[in-house]
Amino acid sequence: MRNKIIPAALFGYFALMIVALLAMGFYWNNFQKPPEQPIKFPHDIHAGKLNLPCQNCHQYTDKSMRAGIPAMQVCMNCHKNAAIDRPEVQKLLKYWENKEPIPWVKIHGFRKNANVRFSHKRHIKAGVECTTCHGNMKVTKEVRRVVNLKMGFCVSCHRANAAPTDCWTCHK
Ligand code: HEC
Ligand code: HEC
Ligand code: HEC
Ligand code: HEC
Ligand code: HEC
Repeated sequence: MRNKIIPAALFGYFALMIVALLAMGFYWNNFQKPPEQPIKFPHDIHAGKLNLPCQNCHQYTDKSMRAGIPAMQVCMNCHKNAAIDRPEVQKLLKYWENKEPIPWVKIHGFRKNANVRFSHKRHIKAGVECTTCHGNMKVTKEVRRVVNLKMGFCVSCHRANAAPTDCWTCHK
């Protein structure tokens, strides 16, 4: 009897481990999965191929807390003429004609109850690169979270750079 219980327990243990790993994998995949955007805006074309600086569109990264999402006017500076035959650009033209703002889905952010305060300006002025927190957007087709912006990630860099680590630096 005894020598049957041990293998059964071992089997149970490993089966549980596998289930736990699968659940973690599932969570991770969903965490990284980009949401459906109203227009498939390709960063690889604009920031990569056309080599537009990030600040052309995200104007406030070095001036304020928020990086900012560009107004449609910024797109229309080019798309009155550029690539107007493409279906995704026609969606843009439609929003423009109807004077409707594009309902972009926000991707980065913190859990609300964590009450985190974050400022782009401080980091950009300190020379931290966009890639540190957002990955390489020059090769990105669809924006997704590639860096887990959890507390340990923030605090370990603060510690390494003698930036403040008091709780109230980041929590309101
Ligand atoms: C031509 C304009 C344009 C340029 C240039 C551009 N972006 Fe964007 N970016 C957008 C638009 C529009 C969105 C919102 C749509 C989306 O998320 O796909 C966006 C979204 C983002 C987001 C996600 C925001 C969120 O919801 O959390 C990040 C991060 C970002 N851009 C970083 C960059 C970086 C880094 C660069 C430079 C390497 C860059 N962008 C260059 C227009 C631009
Ligand atoms: C130290 C990490 C860090 C760096 C560096 C960083 N970001 Fe962000 N970014 C974030 C976080 C965190 C958020 C979500 C902020 C929130 O929701 O409060 C965010 C949000 C954004 C958004 C969504 C709109 C907004 O303003 O919230 C855009 C666009 C963006 N970042 C672009 C950029 C660009 C472009 C650069 C480089 C010039 C950059 N970020 C550098 C951490 C960073
Ligand atoms: C500096 C000029 C410029 C700006 C600003 C610009 N674009 Fe573009 N965009 C282009 C060009 C040029 C192409 C075609 C590039 C190619 O296919 O090689 C393009 C391609 C596209 C495509 C088509 C991708 C495809 O092939 O399906 C979409 C969608 C798009 N842009 C959306 C936007 C949006 C939304 C904005 C504003 C947030 C914007 N663009 C801002 C120049 C610009
Ligand atoms: C450098 C920035 C930073 C510092 C310093 C910091 N935190 Fe955080 N904290 C964060 C971020 C980012 C999160 C994650 C938010 C999320 O999950 O979206 C977080 C999450 C938390 C959470 C979880 C909140 C929840 O509802 O899930 C608690 C609790 C917390 N922090 C407490 C503290 C305490 C206590 C200190 C001081 C010892 C501290 N933090 C210092 C950035 C920071
Ligand atoms: C790559 C390194 C790095 C990462 C990652 C980073 N920070 Fe920072 N952070 C800094 C540095 C360096 C400063 C100090 C800048 C200065 O001296 O003005 C700073 C300053 C700050 C400040 C302003 C502190 C003050 O004096 O008021 C806040 C708030 C902050 N960070 C929050 C965060 C949060 C939240 C995250 C995670 C989402 C984060 N940081 C991730 C390097 C980093």
